Amino acid sequence: MTNGWTRLLWHASRLLYAQLAWSYDLVAWVVSGGQWRAWTRVGLQALPAARVVEIAFGPGHLLRERADAGSPLIGIDRSPQMIRQAARRLRRGGHAARLVRGDVRHLPIATGRLDGVLSTFPAEFIIDPATHREVARVLAPGGVLVVIPSARLTGRGALDRLFGSLARQVALEDPLPGFRQALEAAGFNVDMGWVRLDRSEVLRVLAQRASNTPSEAAP
Ligand SMILES: C[S@@+](CC[C@H](N)C(=O)[O-])C[C@H]1O[C@@H](n2cnc3c(N)ncnc32)[C@H](O)[C@@H]1O
Repeated sequence: MTNGWTRLLWHASRLLYAQLAWSYDLVAWVVSGGQWRAWTRVGLQALPAARVVEIAFGPGHLLRERADAGSPLIGIDRSPQMIRQAARRLRRGGHAARLVRGDVRHLPIATGRLDGVLSTFPAEFIIDPATHREVARVLAPGGVLVVIPSARLTGRGALDRLFGSLARQVALEDPLPGFRQALEAAGFNVDMGWVRLDRSEVLRVLAQRASNTPSEAAP
């Protein structure tokens, strides 16, 4: 992929999280051949029951699903437009919105307070070591970071092939080279693998915080 194309995609995705946030669900549906929600649920299923935060929640579908199931999540995202959408979605379900506007590299959460952190289809912050350090800080030992970074359509039908080639243009299949090593360097034990669904596969990263992170081990 050229630098120009990458820059264009970054710019487009920033617009999609802000001024064009109203169109986010439609775009996600199109580039995933209608599978986006099923893909994000793979992350939800891997989360512990309590003391869990979703970072970069976007339009808030998973927040709503967990709230409907009786175990609400706290959500952190930096886009006011996404926060408004998610808050509306939660209110429509009769739930209080437990949403915070902020950057995932500076979580307003006490050290060791969480059992789980979830991020589905994250932005560039997910490869930033500052994010890894911050998530390691807020997780209790044994707590888990669940990331769904990529997915791919595997169906053989014409539509799946068409949508699959569209998804490749927006790098949904990029397996994040170096991600495992970066998480390990921040003190996580990493289990990474493809989860098979009907017409697709989802890359799921389970990063369990070790009892001592490198910063705790330092003298
Ligand atoms: C691709 S969307 C993913 C939304 C949702 N998790 C999903 O699976 O559809 C990325 C989200 O990350 C948020 N975001 C990007 N950078 C962020 C940062 N540094 N801190 C907090 N949120 C961020 C954007 O506002 C956007 O809502």
